Amino acid sequence: MDLTQPIYITTPLYYVNDELHLGHSTTTIYADTLARFWRALGRPVLFLTGSDEHGQKIFDTAKAAGTDPKTFADRIVVKFFELWEALDISYDVFIRTTDKFHEDAVQVFFKRLKDKGLVFKDMYRALYCVGCETNYTAKDLVDGKCPVHKTVPQKIEEENYFFKLSAFAQPLLDHIAAHPDCIVPEGRRNEIVGKLKEGLIDASVSRTKFDWGVRMPGDEAHVLWVWFDALLNYVTALGWPDSGNLPTGAIAGRARHAAPAAKGKPFVYWWPQAVHLVGKDILWHHSVVWWSMLMGADIAPPRQVLAHGWWQVEGDKMGKSLGNVIKPLEVANKYSRDALRYFILREGPLRGDADWRQLNFVNRYNADLANGLGNLVNRSLNMLLKYFGGAAPAEMPFADGKLETARGELKSLVAGLREELIARMNAFEMDNALEAIWKLVRRANLFVDETKPFSLAKDPARKQDLAAAMHALTEVSRVLGAAVTPFLPDTAVKIAEQLACKPGSLADELAWGKLPAGHKIGTPAALFARIETT
Ligand code: MSP
Repeated sequence: MDLTQPIYITTPLYYVNDELHLGHSTTTIYADTLARFWRALGRPVLFLTGSDEHGQKIFDTAKAAGTDPKTFADRIVVKFFELWEALDISYDVFIRTTDKFHEDAVQVFFKRLKDKGLVFKDMYRALYCVGCETNYTAKDLVDGKCPVHKTVPQKIEEENYFFKLSAFAQPLLDHIAAHPDCIVPEGRRNEIVGKLKEGLIDASVSRTKFDWGVRMPGDEAHVLWVWFDALLNYVTALGWPDSGNLPTGAIAGRARHAAPAAKGKPFVYWWPQAVHLVGKDILWHHSVVWWSMLMGADIAPPRQVLAHGWWQVEGDKMGKSLGNVIKPLEVANKYSRDALRYFILREGPLRGDADWRQLNFVNRYNADLANGLGNLVNRSLNMLLKYFGGAAPAEMPFADGKLETARGELKSLVAGLREELIARMNAFEMDNALEAIWKLVRRANLFVDETKPFSLAKDPARKQDLAAAMHALTEVSRVLGAAVTPFLPDTAVKIAEQLACKPGSLADELAWGKLPAGHKIGTPAALFARIETT
């Protein structure tokens, strides 16, 4: 694994038609966890998110709210900022599709496709779902309705500009064959390949019935299709078409975590090292449509698209009409941000769909966080305080051979952890990465039962074994504090504080024996209060 290779991690740009819910937060938390993980290993990371502000959906929603689309977007985007701030999402760049530099670059891109003969004018007759901002053919529909929104699409008939998408079926198939991991997971890649083999139809990329979008250069009666505009953010935010630095607009927005390393780098430094995180419903746009646009403009496709599944709630589709929408902030406020992240990362729709069940949430929280990690760190540090005045003993041999073997098992789990996490995260298996960490949590809790420091402490002849056990438990607590950094950032900080250590970089702290003998810890405190169930 080359940790000097840059990685550009993106979330979709969410529509500003409504407040964000669990689904959007899930994509963003996956992206945030990846970004934090690679940063903690010292890899250059650029993490982008933003807002999708054009198109008919926003136009209609603003009108219904009695305002103009830009005023409406300005109002909603603030809620995005607030949510990401409250969830401590560590993005570097926030782009709005109404940013001027973006609109200008979209026009340049469109002109380029036109100059290359990839755009033509024709009659557009389509079934258009405003919810998806996407057209469907009759055979895509289920009982005449959009498969995602379950609504009857609009019939549209107007003269439009088309992009020759049909020319790219074979180039896309070739690209996918040459880069088998460009769509993850494999099952979703196969779905795309299957559809490509059926051939592609040209895509309408302009509209005349409303004017909320990027103006078509050369024909002001048209605005560009919202997806055509929005997908381009991934390159415009990097300064395309100039290969210079990031445009200040993108960074200025509210890029509170503006990474100094990101700002000074040109387009070609980050592109095509992009990993787009998306939900399964927008994989088609992010692979077929987006890559064809790029190929048409002689720009390399991104390295990967990771398409996750969807959440259901207690076995039902999540939606306003059912009144079962999970609000991430409510969960975070009630239990903690890290509790929210843990459940999403551990049981969320990373590969297939997933079900948000309150009972599972509580069980995971109590078993893994309160009784697992929380209990381990808390009792380890309290015992260290009680038996050694909070000063870590030096490592020493156990007099009892069985205990020596048990410590050996802890050490070998620690020794393998860094490489295992890298492998898991490289494959986007955040759930399995957590499982690797929790293997150590469980083994260490077992180690407490095996060594029984509270019994050893009663027998002055066992002082050496007590010191050896407490050294091991303090080391494991430190390693775990570092290991959870990308997944549970608040908990990582708390563990570091309680241990009086620097909060973790994964580069050098995931190793045994980094705690100097005599190191004095801070004050232990419970990490997770158990959720009482009656
Ligand atoms: N604006 C487009 C994306 C343009 S990117 C250039 C868009 N926006 S969206 O606001 O609809 O957000 C879509 C994202 O939220 C998708 O990744 C989608 O999968 C995710 N989710 C929406 N509901 C969801 C669930 N119930 N479960 C999980 N994620 C879901 O599409």
